[in-house]
Amino acid sequence: MYKGLIDKLASRAELSHDEYLTLIRNRDEIRDYASALARAARHQYYGDRIYIRGLIEFTNYCKNNCYYCGIRAGNSNVDRYRLMPEDIIACADVGYDLGFRTFVLQGGEDSFYTDTILARIVSSIRKNHADCAITLSLGERSRKSYQILREAGADRYLLRHETCSKTHYETLHPDSMSFERRIQCICDLKELGYQVGVGFMVGSPNQTEKHLAEELLFLKKLKPHMVGIGPFIPHKDTPFRDESGGTSELTTFLLSLIRLTLPEVLLPATTALGTIDPLGRENGIRAGANVLMPNLSPVDVRKKYMLYDNKICTGEEAAQCITCLKNRVRTTGCEIVTDRGDYTDVPCH
Ligand code: 5AD
Ligand code: FES
Repeated sequence: MYKGLIDKLASRAELSHDEYLTLIRNRDEIRDYASALARAARHQYYGDRIYIRGLIEFTNYCKNNCYYCGIRAGNSNVDRYRLMPEDIIACADVGYDLGFRTFVLQGGEDSFYTDTILARIVSSIRKNHADCAITLSLGERSRKSYQILREAGADRYLLRHETCSKTHYETLHPDSMSFERRIQCICDLKELGYQVGVGFMVGSPNQTEKHLAEELLFLKKLKPHMVGIGPFIPHKDTPFRDESGGTSELTTFLLSLIRLTLPEVLLPATTALGTIDPLGRENGIRAGANVLMPNLSPVDVRKKYMLYDNKICTGEEAAQCITCLKNRVRTTGCEIVTDRGDYTDVPCH
């Protein structure tokens, strides 16, 4: 009975809020069908290729106090670190030799990294590795700053919107943060020609199934190049320590719905999904994801970038993670590739 709705979505027709809600509420019945069609949609644009992005978590200082996040300013238990520009550039060099052709520079909102410093880092990586994509994930900055970094050579920017509901946003963030400002940043990034990634946590406190139906309509309208979703996982030193976390079954079902809603989107199977379920990333790929983001940060800082409890892969060297991921991906019938993996809206099959 719900197959008709999945078929409708797969034929690129738009679903209404109520239709998405029906699917979400009845996901157990329709999950296998949704994931088979999501895989077919992914295959049409990207074949069986899974792209890898080398994640460099270069600072865990952050001026914000998001209620869910382990590196929030108010958490005095965090051992704070900053990688210096030379260290970040060296990390990218190591990554390049391991086969990475996309680097994601991610950090908390840390004013130590001025536009000048960041532009220098970006242009050095761009100069050293002309065939690579550079992705930034530095939170909210001014339009001018985004422009400077774009001109320095950044191609992509990840800024999760966290929720498309203003009232829900306000239950996840303190008054000093604003939903409108976040959306404005995303619009600025798009206008400046970045490939833009947005996203949200699944099962964040106060999130309802109706919110999730709204998320899918929001994504359809915004048409981002990338969508990062992962389960909310409580962190012991945050105000949300006692809240329950998101589930892998809901996250993987949403991955299928996102793939069917935006067939061309770049869709990571996230580390958070691999953290709550040992086969989470593989199941994410089976549900339609096509990106993995292993950690390239120096091993001695990895345990300090704990957005949530029990994060995986904080002890392994990058080379170990690559071997491990290659084997894991093979079990899904897909294959890790090492090209830049740009967004495309031209089918290859
Ligand atoms: N659980 C899961 N994801 C989290 N993030 C931050 N804190 C948590 C948490 N406790 C996600 C947010 C942020 C991204 C970098 O990590 O969505 O945008
Ligand atoms: Fe890091 Fe498996 S991906 S150890």
